[in-house]
Amino acid sequence: MNRLLSLLILLVMFSFSCTNKEVITPDQQTPKLPETPYSYNVLSLPAGASQAGGIFDDVIDPSKPSNTINITPWGATLGRVLFYDKNLSLNNTIACASCHHQDKAFADGQQFSTGFQGRITPRNSMAIINPITQNNLFWDSRSRTISDLSLKPVQNHIEMGMEDLDVLERKLEKISYYPALFKKAFGTEVVTKERVSEALSQFIGSITTSRSRFDFFMNNDLVHLNELERLGMNLFNSDKAKCSSCHGGGNMSAQDGPNDPYGGGGTGSFGSVVNDLRGATNIGLDLQYKDNGFGDGKFRIPSLRNIELTGPYMHDGRFKTLEEVLDHYTDGIKPHKHLDVKFTDGHGNLKRLDLSSVEKKAIIAFLKTLTDKEMTTDPKYSDPFKP
Ligand code: HEC
Ligand code: HEC
Repeated sequence: MNRLLSLLILLVMFSFSCTNKEVITPDQQTPKLPETPYSYNVLSLPAGASQAGGIFDDVIDPSKPSNTINITPWGATLGRVLFYDKNLSLNNTIACASCHHQDKAFADGQQFSTGFQGRITPRNSMAIINPITQNNLFWDSRSRTISDLSLKPVQNHIEMGMEDLDVLERKLEKISYYPALFKKAFGTEVVTKERVSEALSQFIGSITTSRSRFDFFMNNDLVHLNELERLGMNLFNSDKAKCSSCHGGGNMSAQDGPNDPYGGGGTGSFGSVVNDLRGATNIGLDLQYKDNGFGDGKFRIPSLRNIELTGPYMHDGRFKTLEEVLDHYTDGIKPHKHLDVKFTDGHGNLKRLDLSSVEKKAIIAFLKTLTDKEMTTDPKYSDPFKP
């Protein structure tokens, strides 16, 4: 009886390990693509934002910009198909686009997102905002480069469940439209995980936003900001509200280059690497964080472009509205041990922002001028499988 039982257990274990390696039959669909590919290689970045540079895989070498990827029209086209293809998940249920919706600037409107087999992501799904300009990616800055990032969600069992990338290669080979697309992108039909990563990186890298009302206003085009919006813009950049000291530069995100306030990592004396803040800081959301992010409750200072579309807000999606976010900065900041010094009086005492309700309204009105509807409706970023 015992032997029978152990035989049975062995059998069950064996069949489990088999199903893990098994390639689930892919769904065949047909992507609709233009005959001449879109010009993904022409990047339109906001004034004052440039391709990230200087930091490369934790080795500081200014001659190697971290996010240099060579974007070609066919490479990014393949990336677009992969991004929207549910076949990239183990059981054909989840695509990158399941949690990254174009009409929401590639966030998904959920506090947490549902991935492979109904599992819930531990963090709020991020918008994709000019990632080619970023030195640090993910809420906890754990990736330096888009190429490093792009296969992680596929392998992550919460997101897409494809732990074995050789299985992915064998699966994609069998799908009618891929061989031709790999050939156009890379010269031969061979499907490799490196090429999948490369194409996805090219597509993600091509996603740029620079055509908001704010940008047109800054470029002196015939766009006006109303009085409230202009008040908000001035406050945003003021010492009183301090927003732009963190959400800075053309991308309104962490200033995290080697010589920037939230960067560092340049070489100090004797060639030592100076403490690198990785674009992350602690804004006192809690006295004790359940998720400590990059460490000590520090999270990447995110870009505020398209912020109107990307709620709920913060790494754990705790705030539903921008009003709640502004209320946090005025009434909610907690005196966490590692709170950013900007929210203290210089002697270690808590000092929240002092903004009136009109000032908060003005800042929110300004934030809404950062919405770029051209990006969220641009066909080159859209779902090619949509009938
Ligand atoms: C189940 C939901 C889900 C799926 C599927 C998913 N993502 Fe994400 N994505 C997230 C979450 C959640 C984060 C934030 C994770 C973190 O910071 O730990 C994120 C972060 C990102 C970021 C970081 C943006 C930034 O500014 O740092 C990029 C880029 C990205 N995902 C691309 C992809 C790609 C490409 C795929 C498909 C291969 C994909 N995602 C699949 C939920 C998802
Ligand atoms: C000390 C740096 C700092 C200052 C000053 C600051 N922020 Fe932030 N901001 C952050 C960080 C870090 C986060 C992400 C925190 C997290 O998720 O744990 C954040 C998150 C946000 C978010 C949510 C973003 C998202 O994608 O979910 C908004 C909106 C925002 N800040 C607006 C503002 C405004 C408006 C001001 C000025 C009144 C401001 N911030 C001042 C560092 C700062």
